[in-house]
Amino acid sequence: MNPPPPGKLLCMAKISALLIVCSLLAFFFFYKSFSPKWTPPPFLDARANDKGAVTNDKPIVLLWFWPLGAKFDLEACPLYYNIDSCILTANRSLYNEAEGVIFYHKDIGWHFEEMPKSRPAFQRWIWFHVESPTNTAKVPGLDNMFNLTLNYRRDADITVRNEIKVRTKDMKDDFVLPKKDKLVCWIVSNNIHATGTAVREKYYYELSKHITIHMFGTAFTSQRLTYEDYYPTIASCKFYLAFENSIHRDYITEKINGPLSSGTVPVVLGPPRANYEKFYPPHSFIHINDFPDAKSLADHLLFLDKHDEEYMQYFEWRKFYTATPHLLTFEKEFIQPVCLACDFVAKNKEYRVVQGLYEWYFS
Ligand SMILES: *[C@@H]1O[C@H](CO)[C@@H](O)[C@H](O)[C@H]1NC(C)=O
Ligand SMILES: *[C@@H]1O[C@H](CO)[C@@H](O)[C@H](O)[C@H]1NC(C)=O
Repeated sequence: MNPPPPGKLLCMAKISALLIVCSLLAFFFFYKSFSPKWTPPPFLDARANDKGAVTNDKPIVLLWFWPLGAKFDLEACPLYYNIDSCILTANRSLYNEAEGVIFYHKDIGWHFEEMPKSRPAFQRWIWFHVESPTNTAKVPGLDNMFNLTLNYRRDADITVRNEIKVRTKDMKDDFVLPKKDKLVCWIVSNNIHATGTAVREKYYYELSKHITIHMFGTAFTSQRLTYEDYYPTIASCKFYLAFENSIHRDYITEKINGPLSSGTVPVVLGPPRANYEKFYPPHSFIHINDFPDAKSLADHLLFLDKHDEEYMQYFEWRKFYTATPHLLTFEKEFIQPVCLACDFVAKNKEYRVVQGLYEWYFS
C-alpha cells in the first residue's frame, strides 16, 4: 500500500483537529447547560456583585425582630408545614446576604431605630402583620418601604390563613361526632373595648338571655383554659361562638378554625356571610346575620339541639374538605406566617414595591 501523499495527510490532520475542537466545545456547552449547580451570569444575579455572596440554592430569610419578643424554633417549618425551601435565621449578621427580611409591624413601631438603614438591591422586605385595621397603629414612614405583605388578607402577597383543604381520595372520611355535653361555648380572653370588642360583647349579652352559654377564658370568667384543653373543650360543645374582635374584610381568624377542626359548628360574628363563603363552605357555619336578632338565633340553636338530622347537615362539607388544627401557644402562632414567607421568597423572585401600604390596608 502506498502512503498517502503529504498534502492529503496534512488535510486529514486538520480535519481531526477540527473534530476534536468541535467535540470539546460541544461537551463544554452540554456540561454548562446541564450542570446542576448552574450559576446565573452576574447581570441576572445581583448577589454576585456583593462580597460574601452565598452560593446556597436556598435563600436566606431573616426574621429581623422576634415577633413581640416571642422566640420559637426556626427549624419548625419542615416539621409542621413540610416547608424546607429557605434558610431561616434570626441572626442579624446575615442581613447583607438575606434575600428576604421579615419585619413584624408592632415591633417596627416599638423599635424603629433598629430598622436597617440601607439594603442590598436583591433584598425584599416583608411587612408582617396579622391584626385587623382596628388594632393597627399607623407607624409613620412605612408607606413605600416594603416589597411584600404578609397578612390574612386574600390580596396580600403572602396570605396567611388556616385554609381548609380539598379532601383527597386517600384521606379516610371517618368522621365521628365528638361526644357533646354542652350546647353553646365561648372561649374569650379579650374584652378591651378599644380593640373593637364592644360589638360582640353586646351580641353575647343579648344571646345569653335566650340560651345558656358556657364561658371559658379570662374575659368574663376567672377560668383560664390550658392549651391542652382548648380542642377537647370546643369539641364537647355543639356550637362555638367564633366572634371576631373587630369586623373587617377577610378578618376571619383561627376562632372559626378551632370548631371546624374539632367537629363543632361555629356561630360566626365578623364580616358578612359572603366574605366567609370565600373561605368556607356555606353550610359549615352559622352566621349571626342569618337571623334578625339574637333571640331568633337562639331559637334556631335550640331547634338544632333537638333535631339531629338537621344538625348533622352542618358536617356534610367534611366529605369534600378538611380543616387542620392550628398551632397553639403564643410563640407558635408566628411559625406558620414565617414559614409561608420563607417558601414565598424561595419560589417568587419578582421585583415589587408595596406602594401606599396603609391606603391598601385601611381600604
Ligand atoms: C451570626 O452569624 C455570624 C456570621 O455568620 C456568626 O459569626 C455568629 O456566630 C452568629 N451568631 C449567632 C448567635 O448564631
Ligand atoms: C424593594 O422596595 C424598595 C423600597 O420601595 C425598592 O427601592 C427596591 O427596589 C425594592 N426591591 C425589590 C427587589 O423588589
